[in-house]
Amino acid sequence: QTPKGSCLESVKVAIDTGYRHIDGAFVYYNEHEVGQAIREKIAEGKIKREDIFYCGKLWNTCHPPELVRPTLEKTLKILQLDYVDLYIIELPMAFKPGDAIYPKDENGKIIYHETDLCATWEAMEACKDAGLAKSIGVSNFNRRQLEMILNKPGLKYKPVSNQVECHPYFTQPKLLEFCRQHNIVIVGYSPLGTSRDETWVNVSSPPLLKDPVLNAIGKRYNKTAAQVALRFSVQRGVVVIPKSFNPQRIRENFQIFDFSLTEKEMKEIEALNKNVRYVELLM
Ligand code: A2P
Repeated sequence: QTPKGSCLESVKVAIDTGYRHIDGAFVYYNEHEVGQAIREKIAEGKIKREDIFYCGKLWNTCHPPELVRPTLEKTLKILQLDYVDLYIIELPMAFKPGDAIYPKDENGKIIYHETDLCATWEAMEACKDAGLAKSIGVSNFNRRQLEMILNKPGLKYKPVSNQVECHPYFTQPKLLEFCRQHNIVIVGYSPLGTSRDETWVNVSSPPLLKDPVLNAIGKRYNKTAAQVALRFSVQRGVVVIPKSFNPQRIRENFQIFDFSLTEKEMKEIEALNKNVRYVELLM
């Protein structure tokens, strides 16, 4: 999803800047570059493997339990790493297994696949037991889907995290509270309100970074709206994974640990919630 080589450079800049958590996926088609960047930085002596927290994702076409481990092994081969720090089920719905990432019928409709998410989860647990993933989690799961896993008879490992859209316009208060109660970390994707690429983003929701409240608060601290949005999430315990392929903005997004928002400012930003997703995942 990125021009060839730009991911390699961006990950290297990010590591030099101080980032350690890298959010990847097979379907981003750049895992080879991410792996190369990590390995180059290790070879340089800048970091050790254990300093990096790499998250990989199991795609929808790989939910049948017998596909889970081979799929993770393929990711590890592409990365040229021995393990991922976190492996997550990318989406709760399964697509027909095969080479097509979005398998479609003759009418252009996605072909879904019957699988038991609990069986997929057991295969994820086996990956952790085999040492291929240090931790396992989920993504885009709602409360009912989480409960299905949490209530599974014989559950060996709980999901450590649930990666979902989360930012000032979509604050997820109920899911956040539920996950807090169950010690599940929320990792917020699109923390800056996405790239507004109309092929997959609901652009009827206004641009987050143009928000007057975020900009006004930023002015007080000599920070940008992006930095305020990231700080807001971090301060409410949400892990952020901002995406940028621009060195200056990669650095900007890391400069959020030298200021803090007051309780009043946090409330003001919470009130911006529109309960509208940018990423609707219509499939
Ligand atoms: P770019 O790669 O050119 O920096 P999200 O993390 O919510 O998915 O947002 C990603 C989008 O936000 C990308 O289009 C990225 O573009 C842009 N972006 C990243 N950091 C900043 C920033 N600090 N200010 C403005 N735009 C940003």
